[in-house]
Amino acid sequence: MKTPYQNIGIIGSGNMGGQLGRLFSKAGYNVMFSSRHPEKLKSLISDLPNANVGNVEQTIEFADIVLLAINYATLSEVTDQLKDKNKVIIDLTNPFYWAENKTLAKVNLSGKSAGEHLQSKLPNSKIIKAFSSHYSASLQKGHRDYPIAVFYTTDEEDLKELAETVIADIGFAPVYYGRLNRSKDIELYGKFSNKIMTKEEALLQLA
Ligand SMILES: NC(=O)c1ccc[n+]([C@@H]2O[C@H](COP(=O)([O-])OP(=O)(O)OC[C@H]3O[C@@H](n4cnc5c(N)ncnc54)[C@H](OP(=O)(O)O)[C@@H]3O)[C@@H](O)[C@H]2O)c1
Repeated sequence: MKTPYQNIGIIGSGNMGGQLGRLFSKAGYNVMFSSRHPEKLKSLISDLPNANVGNVEQTIEFADIVLLAINYATLSEVTDQLKDKNKVIIDLTNPFYWAENKTLAKVNLSGKSAGEHLQSKLPNSKIIKAFSSHYSASLQKGHRDYPIAVFYTTDEEDLKELAETVIADIGFAPVYYGRLNRSKDIELYGKFSNKIMTKEEALLQLA
């Protein structure tokens, strides 16, 4: 569906950003994939009709919607660049990092969800939290023959329609889960971590 938000900027074109960006491009959106080494992304976009690569700064400028898909350890580098840009951001980051002993360690956010934390760092941006608790493999096309439910949270009442449109446009079934302070449930290791559900099953969870 056409919205005024046709330019999607992918910050972090790895497992998640790379895959979701490709789905956006195939759905007809204009996509810019960013990297600190954009030349490495040529093969990612070689078969896409309306995709480009750039550095982070170019991608932020291009984007009507930023898909934030970087590792938490480098989050502050990117939030510094996003400050004062007042963007709509789909945030799928999780507050974990790889510790030296190769285990996933949690970042202490003093009880806040990652969604709330990002909003507090970027007060003028409009945050939609989605996709955080789905493993990239389970989002691949053909994983299920029905649209997988994707919970999202946002504090912006007027963004719900946009969130639902873009999530549905790339083949998923959007389900509003509440404000950002409820995001923990839909972040990694939350109540719905990698739970694959139909929209009907997801709606029952809200009851
Ligand atoms: N993997 C999953 O199944 C999954 C599922 C749900 C959510 N997530 C979340 O999604 C986020 C990304 O996970 P991933 O598995 O996709 O990671 P990944 O494959 O390592 O990709 C992250 C990308 O971020 C880029 N990056 C890192 N620091 C950057 C910086 N300072 N500026 C710009 N780009 C930077 C890197 O690109 P360059 O090195 O090329 O710059 C890298 O390709 C994490 O927060 C994770 O918790 C992951």
